[in-house]
Amino acid sequence: MSPIISVSNLSKIYGSGFKALNNINLDIAKGEIFALLGPNGAGKTTLISIICGIANPTHGKISVNGHDIIKDYRAARSMIGLVPQELHTDAFESVWATVSFSRGLFGKPKNPAHIEKVLKDLSLWDKKDSKIVTLSGGMKRRVMIAKALSHEPQVLFLDEPTAGVDVELRKGMWEVVRALQASGVTIILTTHYIEEAEEMADRIGVINKGEIILIENKSTLMQKLGKKHLTLQLPSKLDAIPPDLAAYNLELSGDGRTLIYDYDTKGDRTGITSLLNDLRTAGIRISDLDTTQSSLEDIFVSLVRAP
Ligand SMILES: Nc1ncnc2c1ncn2[C@@H]1O[C@H](COP(=O)(O)OP(=O)(O)O)[C@@H](O)[C@H]1O
Ligand SMILES: [Mg+2]
Repeated sequence: MSPIISVSNLSKIYGSGFKALNNINLDIAKGEIFALLGPNGAGKTTLISIICGIANPTHGKISVNGHDIIKDYRAARSMIGLVPQELHTDAFESVWATVSFSRGLFGKPKNPAHIEKVLKDLSLWDKKDSKIVTLSGGMKRRVMIAKALSHEPQVLFLDEPTAGVDVELRKGMWEVVRALQASGVTIILTTHYIEEAEEMADRIGVINKGEIILIENKSTLMQKLGKKHLTLQLPSKLDAIPPDLAAYNLELSGDGRTLIYDYDTKGDRTGITSLLNDLRTAGIRISDLDTTQSSLEDIFVSLVRAP
């Protein structure tokens, strides 16, 4: 299936001479939730802004459902809804008016039933006549989503939708995004919250310093890079790891009371059974054990720190 968004060899050099994006290649499949994960300044907003036609690419080619974003700007843009990172405090009369106005910008005929549905889905219906300025931050964010959905886009970009919002609101936002996906909308969200990518995304792209350093299915990513640690508590202090156990690359804690064994979750040979046997042979007793899996956070930190 051809991708709904295709970005090839995209670079962006700002007027200042700063290279914010370096040769980005990215395809987004129809119907997926794609999380673009990266620290502040990585180039997330720049990338989204270019796809949405707000900033110009310096090099490269982008198409939205086959429409080139430059040559066929209107067709490309009409397929996209954007919820920007910065919330605008437009001085519109009411939620209803501002959302209807957004639809009009795309030259779509009036469709009160659609606007009503969007507002209801976002629990904004009873606020349809309220002044935007009286809305809470979370409400404003939802109004921005309603605006972005007013013209029935097939692709929705959410630039850091939950930055600075409280946990409850964040969960509410995740539900909205899932419901949109269920209705067939393709979602691209940016975040610097690893847990958000881990929770929401079908696929994750990690961007750092203007370069995409990894794109992977979330589950593959977790599996491929996810190492497990087996932690063994010892009832008595161990001074050194016996040479017979060298092959396991065990790590002994400073106090001599904990052994750590790292193993891969791939395949069916973890080495745990033989380790436990060899420990017994070496006369090392165990009082407790525990396993932990490295999270996306560990993976992210190690990628971004890598030279
Ligand atoms: N208009 C601009 N002119 C010059 N540099 C910019 C401009 N906008 C963003 N940048 C720089 O480009 C880099 C990427 O910014 P941005 O895309 O906003 O990152 P992110 O959204 O990942 O935090 C940053 O170093 C930022 O300072
Ligand atoms: Mg940004």
